[in-house]
Amino acid sequence: MSEALDKIKLSAYILYNRGKTMKKISKEEAKKRIEELREEINYHNYRYYVLDQPVISDAEYDDLMRELKELEEMYPEFITPDSPTQRVGAPPQEEFGTIIHEIPMLSLQDARNEDELREFDRRVKRVLGLPLTTNIQYTAEPKFDGLSCELTYENGIYKTAATRGDGVRGEDVTLNARTIRSVPMRLIKGENPIPLRVQIRGEVIMKKSDFEKLNQELAKRGEKTFANPRNAASGSLRQLDPKITAERKLDFIAWGIGVVEGLEFKTQWEILNQIEKWGFKVSKPRKLCENIEEVVKFYREMEEKRDSLEYELDGIVVKVNDLSLWNKLGTTARSPRYAIAGKFKPRQKTTVIKDVVFQVGRTGTITPVAILEPVEVGGVIVSRATLHNFDEIKRLDVKIGDKVVVQRAGDVIPDIVQVIKDVRTGKERDISPPSTCPVCGAKVVKEGAYYKCINISCPAKLKAHLKHFAQRRAMDIEGLGEKVAIQLVDKGLVKDLADLYYLTKEDLLKLDGFADKSAENLLNEIHKSKKIPLHRFLYAIGIPNVGEYTAKLLADYFKSFDKLKNTNLNELINIEGIGPETAQSIVEFFRNQENLRVLDKMFKAGLEVEEIKEIKESPFKGKTVVFTGALKSMSRDEAKEIVESLGGKVSNSVSRKTDFVVVGENPGSKYQKAQQLGIKMIDEEEFLKMIGR
Ligand code: IVH
Repeated sequence: MSEALDKIKLSAYILYNRGKTMKKISKEEAKKRIEELREEINYHNYRYYVLDQPVISDAEYDDLMRELKELEEMYPEFITPDSPTQRVGAPPQEEFGTIIHEIPMLSLQDARNEDELREFDRRVKRVLGLPLTTNIQYTAEPKFDGLSCELTYENGIYKTAATRGDGVRGEDVTLNARTIRSVPMRLIKGENPIPLRVQIRGEVIMKKSDFEKLNQELAKRGEKTFANPRNAASGSLRQLDPKITAERKLDFIAWGIGVVEGLEFKTQWEILNQIEKWGFKVSKPRKLCENIEEVVKFYREMEEKRDSLEYELDGIVVKVNDLSLWNKLGTTARSPRYAIAGKFKPRQKTTVIKDVVFQVGRTGTITPVAILEPVEVGGVIVSRATLHNFDEIKRLDVKIGDKVVVQRAGDVIPDIVQVIKDVRTGKERDISPPSTCPVCGAKVVKEGAYYKCINISCPAKLKAHLKHFAQRRAMDIEGLGEKVAIQLVDKGLVKDLADLYYLTKEDLLKLDGFADKSAENLLNEIHKSKKIPLHRFLYAIGIPNVGEYTAKLLADYFKSFDKLKNTNLNELINIEGIGPETAQSIVEFFRNQENLRVLDKMFKAGLEVEEIKEIKESPFKGKTVVFTGALKSMSRDEAKEIVESLGGKVSNSVSRKTDFVVVGENPGSKYQKAQQLGIKMIDEEEFLKMIGR
């Protein structure tokens, strides 16, 4: 212990700087405040990472964390492994230890279709000696495609985490799983007592969108990418350096328990609901089914919904709800008889690569695309698959003529995930990068893993850009899809984006499949798009690195197109959420004379970008408001909406940053806290006056 620290510990009071106020705090007070902060931070973690409903801003959250870190630095003796500050920062490990699963983690038998699910139901009844006409209650949950993990809690505090391993011995990933924000460090207390010990089982997964982002980043850095979200989740959790795990966006979804001491359950449904109350994300959507036909219905619905979910699913899991039947049913060598996985149709198939062609995108990026021997994958005929870039070609070691595994996920163009090298004949040909643009013949340059066409007027770029510009989330010009975009460019009717706004009916009648009515409809759609909200326009014009999210961020900040156009690098970099690369792209975009010319031409045609109106002066503008107690005249949600529409922010907890506390009937502890901190309190009547009612 350093001398300086000793001195601090000896003195009963120390000064510490929190924000701008200097405050004296004793060891006792610090201990109390540390506890308070942990509770508050845990609550906000839960709101943000489990419920996805934050009630404070990131900045407010950071302030709480900072205060806790400062206090823990002053009094390190109060640091506990379950403190929110300890989620990140554990040093790398030499190797993973082993954790034995007291109750083995079994795997499940598969049912590949509806009939096999019904067969499972019949077997359950046979083993239980029940007539086939009995209805058995089942729980049905999504089967998440990730890596299963068991978390152990003692007296409600997180202790260890283990992977499934071989079912009996798992790897000790305690330090890694601690970095996953949806893994609670403490269980939330509720009506039931917190068990002395409980093991929560579930799946560590990565959202599809986070997986894509991670792969893009890895590719940019020239590192190996992952084949699918499951491999990404597994590779990210099983890292000897927990700091790497902490940087990856992982999630934990609970689906069951292992050992539990001090609490008894009767049904699987009860287990799931209890785990949820303890603060976990639990399989959702889930259904308590009264019989196997309801299970089959759920299975069908989930298979249909599969692509719209943010996580990858490979089926559903069906469990007998009544736990007393589990023992009676027993297990086979590897899997229990009380549960089954209803697997969805496979979305991987093997086929042969006949050729590779190059596709030029909106920004000039050239993507190698494999032309396949057509094959049916999960109900769709697939004849093309993306190879992404040349690093990916190298990683897969793929050649023309190879037999490959193709995978389809959602509406996106299928991927090649593996090459079956054992069946190579020696006739396979290497894929060489293009030396010129396959569309316009211009020079190509290599940028990281990508080759790019640098000709600004390359027709391929314009076609892709037109399609992007017209899409629903951008200018929303219905009827302007890929086919129309290609023709508009090929027939010389559109030489830049602005030409769209100068098209005549006669022009459109030159396109295949266009007649009077369709030409008028499209013209009308183009005309309608001339009045456009700022964020959609910013997304539509295709500034490199500006996706929908960033466009929204920029629109909220600048509020007018001209303000953004005239910004500078410095201002952009200082906006939360805008990185230096994006900032640079924005500045360069608005420095480019050709871009300015096209934008100007659009405005001359009458295009109008709607500005975001500044909120007029209001007593709530820029203020943070907390509600406590019930309001007579409106619900909390309504009140929140009103405050927000007047430029205020509503927070769930009182802190020094709170400007007003609105006190309704039967106020809670927030009232006392506001009193302690001397924060302005108003009653409902005054609140109504302030909002002009
Ligand atoms: S219950 C006896 N429920 O699928 C095993 N498993 O093949 C009980 N999985 O190892 C497992 N989602 O990793 C269950 N909702 C869910 C699941 C789920 C994914 C995984 C789990 C298990 C594997 C079984």
